Amino acid sequence: MAVVNVNLGDRSYPITISPGCLANIGDLLRNIDPETKILIVSDDHVAALYGQQVLASLEKAGYHAEIFQIRPGEASKTIEVAMSVYTKAIEWGMDRKSSFLALGGGVVGDLTGFVAATYLRGVPFIQVPTSLLAQVDSSVGGKVAVDHPLGKNLIGAFYQPQTVVIDPALLRTLPEREYYAGLAEVIKYGAIADKEFFTRLLTEQEAILARNPLVLGEIIQRSCQIKADIVEKDEKDTSLRMILNFGHTIAHALEAGFGFERYNHGEAVAIGMVGAALLSHRMGFCSPDVVAALRDCLIRFHLPTNVVGGTVIDYRGYMERDKKNIGGETQWILLLDIGQTTICNAVSEAMLQDIMAEIMLPADA
Ligand code: GLY
Repeated sequence: MAVVNVNLGDRSYPITISPGCLANIGDLLRNIDPETKILIVSDDHVAALYGQQVLASLEKAGYHAEIFQIRPGEASKTIEVAMSVYTKAIEWGMDRKSSFLALGGGVVGDLTGFVAATYLRGVPFIQVPTSLLAQVDSSVGGKVAVDHPLGKNLIGAFYQPQTVVIDPALLRTLPEREYYAGLAEVIKYGAIADKEFFTRLLTEQEAILARNPLVLGEIIQRSCQIKADIVEKDEKDTSLRMILNFGHTIAHALEAGFGFERYNHGEAVAIGMVGAALLSHRMGFCSPDVVAALRDCLIRFHLPTNVVGGTVIDYRGYMERDKKNIGGETQWILLLDIGQTTICNAVSEAMLQDIMAEIMLPADA
């Protein structure tokens, strides 16, 4: 069993990573008071696969547990769905010692964390991420939110969980496209912070694609460690944490520009990282080999590296509304090398247009 600690003073917590650990989750919640109520929030798909197992383990460990199910998908990340969870919590008599347990992917984790941060002005919550994207990114670092009709994640808080429990064996039931999408964020960690890890992903390509739980456990552990190190230095996302946004400026524009239908988050991040790497090279920050290495790695893990076909989207408008802008300027995370970044706000409109043209190819290209 591997443990990564997120050290944030009195808000510190462990991330436990172990294949098969879901069956014993009740025994892993040492920092949750015994005999208290735990409301498991999950979506219909994940609850059908793992809900009863988690419920049984919590009850065996002496907790009073119930499951509350929401519909799968981003459409559930709303204040209305949060309200239905509050209602369940009030009716079930949850008090300040009660906890919420998020069993699912990023939507479930973000929504449940948001409810926990606000219910009775804040109660403990536990993250049990079941998608690769949630295991390496959204369950760690305390960003919780619901969407607003005018934008994703606009209503939220920084609210750290009490504990994160990751079972890499759960990934075997993840649909292929979603699995590859999670790998985009794993590759991102190598690209921004650890060249050796980036190289390891290539040498372990076969085992990763076969979803070998032991290799995945190590890959997830390193990803969580990189994120924990960054969050410990900049919990509230004012400086260093922005590097986690590598590839995301273009990604958010592609996701929104294609109506959140054509690309999932990881696919958009993959294309966005290539765009950001091209910008890095064009601005003289890195060699063309860096762009080639990143592109090659993404292709090996079945991720897209450019947009083929489709109308030209108004990417500028989406970039202007990016939450990470400062004084109206986009903060670009660029590469000096694989594993090394710089933050730059001096990307010209002409250069951005060139890069967008390079990654958005016509249908007959
Ligand atoms: N997903 C980016 C962050 O947690 O800051």
